[in-house]
Formats: sequence, structure tokens, C-alpha cells
Amino acid sequence: MVLFVFIGTLLIFVFIFRTVIKPKRYPPGPRWYPFFGCFGIINRRMKQHGSQWKVLSDMAKEFSTNILGLKLGNQLVVVVYGEKNIRQVTTDKEFDARPDSFFLRLRTFGKRAGITFVDGPLWREHRPFTVKHLRNQGFGKQLMEQHIQAQLSNVLDVLEKSNGDSISIRTPMSIALINIIWKYVAGEHIKENKLRQFLRFSSARSKAFTLAGGYLDQWPWLRYIFPNWTGYNIIKTMNKEILDIIQHAIWRHHSNTVEGNDYIYSFLKEMYATEDTYTEDQLKGVCIDILIAASNTGSSALDFAFILLLRHPDVQNKVYEEINRVLGVDKPSWADNGRLIYTSAFLSEVHRLCTIAPFLGGRRALTDFEMDGYLIPKGTTILVSLADLHKDETLWDEPHTFKPERFIDENGALKIPANLYPFGIGRRRCPGEPLGRSFIFIMLVGILQKYRIQCNGPPPSAESVVGLLAEPVQFTAQFVKRL
Ligand code: HEM
Repeated sequence: MVLFVFIGTLLIFVFIFRTVIKPKRYPPGPRWYPFFGCFGIINRRMKQHGSQWKVLSDMAKEFSTNILGLKLGNQLVVVVYGEKNIRQVTTDKEFDARPDSFFLRLRTFGKRAGITFVDGPLWREHRPFTVKHLRNQGFGKQLMEQHIQAQLSNVLDVLEKSNGDSISIRTPMSIALINIIWKYVAGEHIKENKLRQFLRFSSARSKAFTLAGGYLDQWPWLRYIFPNWTGYNIIKTMNKEILDIIQHAIWRHHSNTVEGNDYIYSFLKEMYATEDTYTEDQLKGVCIDILIAASNTGSSALDFAFILLLRHPDVQNKVYEEINRVLGVDKPSWADNGRLIYTSAFLSEVHRLCTIAPFLGGRRALTDFEMDGYLIPKGTTILVSLADLHKDETLWDEPHTFKPERFIDENGALKIPANLYPFGIGRRRCPGEPLGRSFIFIMLVGILQKYRIQCNGPPPSAESVVGLLAEPVQFTAQFVKRL
């Protein structure tokens, strides 16, 4: 009996001991503790320094490494920095896969569905299918400009009604972007009260979680004991809101109540014809991905742009002067980005300095691989720090300074370096980029053409609130009509 207890205890010790031993030639990083890995160290620092992205960035500098080796709970995670390493991860096929975790599955009702967090044949089939059928509806084409211009008119109405009082235009911007994309997906708009409700939860979810995973990811059972603290309740409520919207749209398509030939119709046609991967859960997954992707991205980028204009009135004057000189009272279109050089340079600087996705979507190593002389085992989660690349001092002169001029060459032409990619690069780059870019450009130009933006008191901070994405601080501003 004593021998039995002794061997049992020994085995437990050996097991625990093995969990804190790093694999051979694993990249440098903080110490690992039993069960938690480096979770505790990172969380402690997050309380002192804010976002997880910032803590990891500082840690990589502390260990003088371009690949930081971590263990979060029992999951191996590496964070990749530097131009060469980031190119390798975003272009080699071995890194096309996404991690598979409780948290990511929770997003899509416990299954792997959709585009953003699936891989392999499912992703290879559905990403092109979705893009092709969205394009059939006008996505990425001339028609999309008209849809953006129509939404610009709605936003201008909101500004007109504000009468120069301080307002936040974050929600109207999110509504405008979702209205455009949802028309291609589901043929009609979402009821505004439903959409506002969803946007509230989507922003709360983005702030409550981090891409490297949280407690819920490592220890899913914690949701039964601490549903609020782990963020589980936020996700549950947001899922309910989003699924209500999607389910309603699918029912209306099943009963042929929606006019046109949108993405949901194309998907259902395929679903009736083949069983394969065209299932209703997959359809819901894609719709979830699209709604989440459009909910906070475009509006955050525009809010950052307005904050920087409030902080730099001289830049606002230059942007306005250019719009007035080149466009006059003409409606802005995406083609104008080649003529509005300073405005385009300003927007590139916004994307660089306030990168909306500080980490690209996580990757999962499909094989063991070597980077900078370190060995990373198959199955490791890989995070790619885009925000650090955009502030890398070997690539950018005075990277922490706001300088739109850096994107204009000595001949006055726009010069966008290859290392600025706010929408990602490679096979997993953002398929919403054509909409994202033209939406931000047309909205900004259309508003500044008619309004001067100003605020009472000191301008808001341009620091990001980083969770899953980087969001600007909440602020209000006055939109004063130009005569
Ligand atoms: C300012 C606006 C936006 C920004 C900055 C942005 C940025 C990004 C980034 C950085 C990624 C990750 C790429 C990677 O993992 O390598 C991504 C993925 C994605 N984005 Fe966007 N995005 C924006 C708007 C949109 C919109 C409007 C849509 C809607 C169609 C969209 C749909 C997606 C999807 C489906 C993915 C996943 C792609 C995949 O995994 O294959 N995005 N986006």
C-alpha cells in the first residue's frame, strides 16, 4: 500500500515536473509554472501595463527575441515579431491553419464553422465561394461605391441633426458598414434596434478577451462557477443576439420572402443540391464571421482618424484644403484616393499608428518548424504581431511619431511601403479589404468635405484599448458645418 502511494505520488510529481520543462530549443520567454504555464506572469503584468499585446511586446524586448516562447495553461503559444518571421508565417502554407480552441468554437455554437476560424478543405471551399457570391451582388465593384455613398448620406443626416452639438458617430458608422455588407449577404437591412443591441455586445466582447486566449480558453469549466468574470455571459448574450438576426434572415430566404439573389440564396441553392459542407450551421458560421468582422473594424479606424485630426488641427486643415481643391463639391469615390495624396497618406498613417488588429488572426503550426534557430513543435499556436511590425524602428523613421508625410515621396506621389498591411497579407488576408478601404476613405472625405471637427477641452487620447482588436477611447466631438 505504502509503495503504491509512493509510486502514485512520484508519478504525479514527474507529470507536474514535465509540464514545466520547455521543449528542446524552444524560443526564449518567461518561466513556466505547473498548470498555468506563464499565464499568471502575463496576467499580473497586464494589470500593471494594460493590454496583453503590450505586455508580450515588452517581454519580447526583454528577452531580445523576435520569437517569444510561451505556454498558456497547457497550450504552447509563440508570438512572432520582425519582418522576416512575419512574412514566413503569412506566406508559407504550413501556417494557414487556425487554432482550434473552446473560445473560438464558442463563437460558432460549439462547432468549427464559417471562414475566420476554420482551415483545411472547409476553408478552401468556403472562402472563395463566399467572396464569389458577394461579388455577384456588387461587393468590390463600382456598385459598392454607390452603396457606400448612400450610407454616407445617412451619416451626413445624423451630423446635420446634431446641430454642432457634441456627438459620437461610432454607432452610426458601424451601422452604415453593416448595412452595406448585409445587403449583399441577406438582401436587406437589419432592424436598427437589433443592430444597436448586437453592436453593444460585440464591443464588450472585443474588450473582454485577448487573442492569446483567456481563462475560458484554458479552463472552460470555469464558466459554470464564474460566468461573468470569465466573460462567458457576454459571449452567450452576444451569440443569442447575432443568431436571432441570422436565423430570421435564413427563415425569410427559406420562404422566398426576400427579393434578389443574395449570398444566402446562393448558399441555400448549393445546400439543397449537395449535402457536403453546405449545411445551415456552416451558413450561420459565415454570417457570424461577416457580422463580427464588420461590427467594430471600420468604425474604429474612422474614430482613430477623427481623434488624430482633433489632436492635429494643422493636418485637418491640410486634408480639407486638398479635398476642397481637388474635389470641390463632387461626391467622393474610391478612385479619388489616387488624387487625394495627402488624405490617402493620412489614412495610411492612421492604419500604421493605430493598427486595428494588433495581432493577425492566430495560426496553428501544421508541422514542426524552425525559426531564428529555435524549434517550434507541431500544433503550437502562433500569434503574429502586426502592430509591432508597424512600429518597428528598423523599418520606420521615428515610428511613434504621427507623420502622414512619410507616405509621400520627393515627387509628391503616394509611396506605400510593403510592410504596411493593416488587412493582413497572404492567403488569409482580409477578404473584406475592398469594402473596408473604400468605406473608410469615402466616409472620411465625405464628412470633412462638409464639416470641421472640433472638441471642447483637450482632445481625446489616441491610445488604443486593446482586447481582441484595438479600439479607440470613447469620445464625442462637434461636427461644425463649413459654409
Ligand atoms: C477596417 C476594416 C477591417 C480591417 C482593418 C480588417 C482586418 C483584418 C485582418 C488583419 C484580418 C486577419 C488576417 C490574417 O489572419 O492574416 C482579417 C480577417 C478577416 N476579415 Fe477583415 N478587416 C476589416 C473589415 C472586414 C469586413 C468589412 C469584412 C466583411 C466582409 C471582413 C471579413 C474578414 C474575414 C472573413 C476574415 C477572415 C479571413 C480568413 O481567415 O481567411 N473584414 N481582417
